[in-house]
Parts: sequence; C-alpha cells; structure tokens
Amino acid sequence: MTSFSGFYKLSRKERLAKIKEFAGLSDDEIKTLESADALGFETADRMVENAIGTFQLPLGVAVNFVINGQEKVVPMATEEPSVIAAASNGAKLALPEGFKTGSTDPIMIGQIQLVNVPDARKSAKEIIAKKGEIIKLANRPDAPMVKYGGGVKDLECKEYDTPRGKMLVVYLFIDCRDAMGANAVNTFCEMLAPEFEKLTGAKARLRILSNFATQRVARARAVWKKEVIGEDAIEGILDAYEFAAADAYRAATHNKGVMNGVDAVVIATGNDWRAVEAGAHAYASMSGRCLPLTRYKKTRQGDLEGEIELPMAVGLVGGATKTHPVAKLAVKMLGVKSAGELSQVIAAVGLSQNFAALKALSTEGIQRGHMELHARNVAVAAGAKGKQVDEIAEKMIGEKNIRQERATELLGKKN
Ligand code: MEV
Repeated sequence: MTSFSGFYKLSRKERLAKIKEFAGLSDDEIKTLESADALGFETADRMVENAIGTFQLPLGVAVNFVINGQEKVVPMATEEPSVIAAASNGAKLALPEGFKTGSTDPIMIGQIQLVNVPDARKSAKEIIAKKGEIIKLANRPDAPMVKYGGGVKDLECKEYDTPRGKMLVVYLFIDCRDAMGANAVNTFCEMLAPEFEKLTGAKARLRILSNFATQRVARARAVWKKEVIGEDAIEGILDAYEFAAADAYRAATHNKGVMNGVDAVVIATGNDWRAVEAGAHAYASMSGRCLPLTRYKKTRQGDLEGEIELPMAVGLVGGATKTHPVAKLAVKMLGVKSAGELSQVIAAVGLSQNFAALKALSTEGIQRGHMELHARNVAVAAGAKGKQVDEIAEKMIGEKNIRQERATELLGKKN
C-alpha cells in the first residue's frame, strides 16, 4: 500500500507528485490540476446558458481508502473544512480490511404519465400484455445504450386516483450502463409515449426519469475493531445511530453528514449531485419517516460493523464527467472502470464520513477540530502566510479569541 501518512503536511507540489505517481497522471494532467483556469470559459459557455465565468471549489483527496482490497485515492470537491480529513480518518481506522462494497445493475426508472384514461385498469392490462412487443420496439439498434447492452429491460403500470381524475403511469426500467442516464431515460420516455397514447386512448403528459433510483443502489460495509477505536467510541456510535433511527430530526442531520462525503465525490467527478441528493433523501424516507442511510451494530467479537445502502445515479460518460477537465482527471485518479464501481466508492466514502462524524460527535465533539480550521482560515483571511498561519491560529485558540481583528493585531506584532 502506498503510504499517504502525513499527506496533509506536504506542500501542494509534493502532494501532486504523490498523486501523479499513484494514479499514473501525465505532466499535462498535473498542469491541469494546478491551473487556476482548468475549466476554460469557452467550455463553460457551452455547458450552460448566459455564462459569465466559472465558480471554483477546493479539490482535495481522501486517503487511506481500501475498497474490495484495492487502495483508492478519492478526489473530493467541497467548501466545508474537516470533511476530507474526517473521511480519510474513518477509512484509516477501518484498515487493513477497509470497505467491502457492491452495487446493483445500473437500472434507472422512467415515468410516462397518462391522463384522461378512458379505462385505466383495462389499459394497464393491455400494456402489460404487450410488454414484450413494446420493449422490442424501444430497443431498436440506434436507441440509447442498446449497443452497449443497455436499454429498456422491463415495464410496469401504476394507477392513481387523483383530484384531476384517474391517471395511469408507465414505469420503464432502463439499463443505463456507464451513463447516469437522464438523457437516455428521457429519450425512451418521449419515444414510447405516443405508443402508449395509441394503446390507451389517453394523453401523455410528463415523460421523465425518476430520481428515486431504487433499482440502482450502491452498498458499502466496514468493520471498525474495538482495539483500534475503543469501546467507548463503539458505544457512542451505537447510541448516535439509535438516536437517528428513532428521531427524524436527527436522521436528517445524520444523513447530511453522509452526503458531505457523497456529494464531494459526486461533484469532483462531474456528476449530478442534485439527482443523488434527491434519491438519497427519498430512499431514507421510504418507510414514511426519515431514517438514517447508514446502520451500525456490534459484531459477536464486540467490534463495530457499519453499512450503507443508497441510490447512486452516477455515470462515467456524458455530461460534465467528460467535458470538465478536472472531473475527467478525478475519474482517472479513482481508477474506476464502470459507473457501478464509482457508485461503490461513493458509498464507501459516505459510510466513512458518517462513521467519523458520529465518532467525533459522540465522544469529544466536533468543535475543537472545527475551531482549529476556522482559526487557520481567519488567520489566512487576515493576511497570514506560511508558518504564520499556524502560529497565529494557535495563539487565537489559546486565547479563545478567534476573530479577524485579533489575527490582524497578532500579524501586526509579528511583522
Ligand atoms: C456537518 O456538516 C455534518 C454533521 O452535522 C453530521 C452529523 O451531525 O452527523 C457533523
């Protein structure tokens, strides 16, 4: 295993040199990572409307991740201090086994809403009876994903009695292979809607994917040994977990902590974090109450076992994953070969992030760590450079007086 111990203490150049060697990046790729303008305006202007610039976020890497026996360096884009350190710490404490992960096939769901249905029950039966024919029609050779082995795999109907009358909704189950699949799913929905109109005499309204990606989930599991984290941390995490399992207000925050890790990787790899967020929170609330996305229990040996399962609609092709130069490098750094593999890394990061948050919250609290980072940020904002940053931060922490005016004062004395 490559040693990333003390990685945070290295200079940017040294960190990049390590990543270059680990991920086999070229000199040009390192230049892209160093560039202040990696996403050029021309590309940005093609990505969105009315572009006037680009918006940057810090990009870091979480270290110590061993996933299914393979070491990973995980790129994370986030504005929040402590997130990357916490993910790395959770992963370190799970060594040497690390995380065991898995995922389902990349099946996304598309929905076609049919309104003014003359006879919903009869129409549903007819659609199901013609399922084979419809699927064949959908998966013509030039349809999205078909040449890669994807396409429409199944369909179902649901009837709803609504204040606006009966509605019939056709669910398409579409294998999106290595794409997130929004475009493919929407294409299939729009392509098949006229067929359903003909079959039912109804009118098709919405034809769109569902972000509640229940058929495309990723899972991760890890065991944290009592000799490594201590019995008090295990009891603390179990108490924290049961709190979230009992109380939706806590579950929402618990899951926010999970998403701190998940989103950072989703963003770094150029994926749609709103889609992943929407799916995760709907999944957490599937029982009718918001529940934690992670679960913990004590093993027979008295160690702590944690697991996570959540929808993970991410891809490696299409969208910003291919157009954003840093996202492309993030995927390369991860060395993942399929969307499923990427989804599993993200699940592992979500679990590690949550474990680290619960460990800190249920034992010493998170404010000390936060204050250290906050003090450093305040020192930098006041103009501290190099070694001054830590010196001034430490002084302010010692004085319990972390304010920009104090940092400026201290800086004045030092100059
Ligand atoms: C802060 O961004 C995330 C936490 O609130 C998560 C949690 O409470 O579990 C620390």
